Amino acid sequence: MKVLVVGGGGREHALTWKIAQSPLVTKLYCAPGNPGTAALAENLPIAVDQLDKLLAFAFENRIDLTVVGPEQPLSLGIVDLFESHGLKVFGPSQKAAFIEGSKAFSKDLMQKYGVPTAAYGVFTDQAEAEAFIKRTGAPIVVKADGLAAGKGVIIARTCEEAVDAVREMLSGNAFGSAGSRVVIEEFLTGEEASFLVITDGTKIVPLASAQDHKAIFDGDQGPNTGGMGAYSPAPVVTRDIHEKAMQQVILPTVKGMAAEGRPYRGVLYAGLMVKDGQVKTLEFNARFGDPECQPLLMRMKSDIVPVLMAVAEGDLGSHSIEWHDKAAVCVVMAAEGYPGDYRRADVINGLAEAARIDDVYVFHAGTAVKEGRCVTNGGRVLGVTALGDSVQQAISTAYGAVDCISWNGVQFRSDIGRKALGRT
Ligand code: AMP
Ligand code: GLY
Repeated sequence: MKVLVVGGGGREHALTWKIAQSPLVTKLYCAPGNPGTAALAENLPIAVDQLDKLLAFAFENRIDLTVVGPEQPLSLGIVDLFESHGLKVFGPSQKAAFIEGSKAFSKDLMQKYGVPTAAYGVFTDQAEAEAFIKRTGAPIVVKADGLAAGKGVIIARTCEEAVDAVREMLSGNAFGSAGSRVVIEEFLTGEEASFLVITDGTKIVPLASAQDHKAIFDGDQGPNTGGMGAYSPAPVVTRDIHEKAMQQVILPTVKGMAAEGRPYRGVLYAGLMVKDGQVKTLEFNARFGDPECQPLLMRMKSDIVPVLMAVAEGDLGSHSIEWHDKAAVCVVMAAEGYPGDYRRADVINGLAEAARIDDVYVFHAGTAVKEGRCVTNGGRVLGVTALGDSVQQAISTAYGAVDCISWNGVQFRSDIGRKALGRT
């Protein structure tokens, strides 16, 4: 079977790594990929938003299965385009990916189908937004409606800060057209978890639990990023919370999307807030989380390809997924300045040394090869991921590998996984 992975981040390196292990796969491509995927697949110089070029490649090379990593091509309709040419592709249609592409849509969907979430309002008018902020009080959360690479959410400590954030978004200064509509919502407290399932629109296979670390600094301080590290399993997702997430969040959402004429196929990712034994939904994503994908796939025992193919064919059948009992922890190493403007082209040292450590895999995200050397080429540069018999052991092994790697201005959180320890 010939497989094409679309994307070039840490998530896609992890997907490529996992797919490459399948005995079903004879040839693997990644577009555009990164220096990490180059060791496992043939990288193609096609960007994720060049849908026509991706289609032409898949069509001419008779690709049996295309797996889409990032949200952008999904929102642009890559799945619809490929399917209209008879190609099999794993991911939601454009209409279904709207659950991530518009926060206003996803909030309205949750309200309509009774999915627990924070109280909210949707605004395009500054004065109306300000009135809502004054009525609700701070802290309060302001979100750009459209895609903003995980950075379109402002947690405002004061009403003034919220009003300013709304102004920046509505004026188009902050996120362009993605911010021309804003969602303003109640501030929730609790512990977050990433709850991912694979679904064909009817049948649902939950993945193992995971937790991301969105803030840039230790102790969840500083601005939000795409994610600075993740681990699996997440003890905050007890059996009871798992059941609530399935019954109260995932099932009504999958059913609701079908009822709305947007049947959902692919990975559905619910960002949950857990507090006092209850769950509330912060957001939905239409794809694997990054970096959650890295620890999840390291823990996945089953071959992922038959599951992805079954969903692409529209019927999960009786497929299930088995997991290693081990825990996995991924520490993201980022470039100086991230999540703002960041340094580039710094030479990365110690990759080979880290790779020699047992139970460690270093997933590339923002890297490039320059004059034969691996250099930084993105905000999130590497996802150093380790397996361990316990979360504690996986943490120690992952940080042991992190210690081998260095470049000018490297930054990473030193507390990835710590929340899990308080619970086990
Ligand atoms: P989102 O992209 O909507 O998940 O938001 C990104 C991050 O912002 C979440 O992972 C939370 O850390 C935080 N966040 C979003 N909405 C809320 C909320 N209503 N209350 C508290 N924190 C939130
Ligand atoms: N790590 C969060 C996300 O992928 O959106």
